[in-house]
Amino acid sequence: MSHDLPPQPLTATAGLALRGALRPPGDKSISHRAMILGLLSIGETRVEGLLEGDDVLRTAAAAEALGATVERLGEGRWRIVGVGLGGLADPADVLDFGNAGTGSRLMMGVVGGQPVTATFDGDASLRKRPMRRILDPLVRMGAEVVGEQEGGRVPLTLRGPREAIPITYETPVASAQIKSAVLLAGLNAPGTTTVIEAAATRDHTERMLRLFGAHVEVTAHGPEGHGRTIALTGQPTLRGTDVVVPADPSSAAFPLVAALIVPGSEVVIEGVMMNPLRTGLITTLIEMGADIERLRERDEGGETVADLRVRASRLKGVDVPPERAPAMIDEYPILAVAAAFAEGTTRMNGLHELRVKESDRLAAVADGLKANGIAHVVEGDDLVVHGDGTAPRGGGTVATHLDHRIAMAFLVLGLATHEPVTVDDGAMIATSFPSFLPTMQALGGRIAP
Ligand code: S3P
Repeated sequence: MSHDLPPQPLTATAGLALRGALRPPGDKSISHRAMILGLLSIGETRVEGLLEGDDVLRTAAAAEALGATVERLGEGRWRIVGVGLGGLADPADVLDFGNAGTGSRLMMGVVGGQPVTATFDGDASLRKRPMRRILDPLVRMGAEVVGEQEGGRVPLTLRGPREAIPITYETPVASAQIKSAVLLAGLNAPGTTTVIEAAATRDHTERMLRLFGAHVEVTAHGPEGHGRTIALTGQPTLRGTDVVVPADPSSAAFPLVAALIVPGSEVVIEGVMMNPLRTGLITTLIEMGADIERLRERDEGGETVADLRVRASRLKGVDVPPERAPAMIDEYPILAVAAAFAEGTTRMNGLHELRVKESDRLAAVADGLKANGIAHVVEGDDLVVHGDGTAPRGGGTVATHLDHRIAMAFLVLGLATHEPVTVDDGAMIATSFPSFLPTMQALGGRIAP
């Protein structure tokens, strides 16, 4: 199934400098996890600043279908009354996750570890995404895959065991989704479930499990301490709690790069989460010469947040090392746009995981760059963008392949190219940044249907 709405083409046109302040929506990763741990705990969880995008609303609906009481109290304010470990109900219907990879994969971890049976499905994009990476460890933990499409795709039905088997699992790719699915299944295992990752990925699951009362031990290993071993003690009592969701750095990335490339711009982006496992883009842009100041650093809901003051900057090309990929995995499309304005060559190394995101992002970015006259080459899993320090031609129409981040990245491009840039469908932007259009327009950005 594709999304039900007709495609919504959008066009971005260069205009005056961008000015003003904004707060991006709540972090998508943390919002999904708050719903899921709310479901698995006893008592009430109250969430402030939840991302009310389509992806998270699908997870909320799934939590409800599995037995939680989920209630919206006001803008971004939600109340979840959980069922506790072992209290899940078989959902009456298919769990339709729409476009949401994170929601579906994490919820597979939940179902795969509990005595419950559920069918997972999603849109045309989700139906193409690999699920074997999640199902393999879950099967080792006692789950049964009742029906699945060729190569482990949704729709599929998963039946969890009465009690999960505690395992030690070395993730084959650096993926917070795989790690999280195993840990969530391990909640119902008698003993210690251990995940070993060669490179640290976002740690929101570990942090939130602790917040809800679980015992999680994390140790660094490997060359330069990049790897992580995460050990969860099974069968804890999870208690509902308050969760404050900071602003999503992956959404902040779009107005941030827009302010860098539109001449004369100065924008403040407020309350952005600065978790070091999420700030690879900021590190890279600063290496490229970006004028980004971190103001008012403070703690919000257990994460460091900051206001970012961003001024238009002359950028230069850099090499982005593959080890940085987990800390900026969703930011390569918008980095490629920044690189198109930089003087010199930007080489983004080790992007194989980009091929299995909401679209084949490596191909989608390359096609979008080509359509807009931007010199680039894909060499294996590396993307190389050549800039001469001036604005590219633009003028292209970009195929977004049901991918929100491709849509937003190329709209940002069009705010600073000689000719307008059109994306064929902006509907998916609502999955992660429903207020993207009015937010960019309020800064002075010319984006319209
Ligand atoms: C996410 C993990 C990443 C990221 C996704 C959100 C998460 O996926 O791309 O947008 O919340 O755990 P992978 O774990 O597949 O790299």
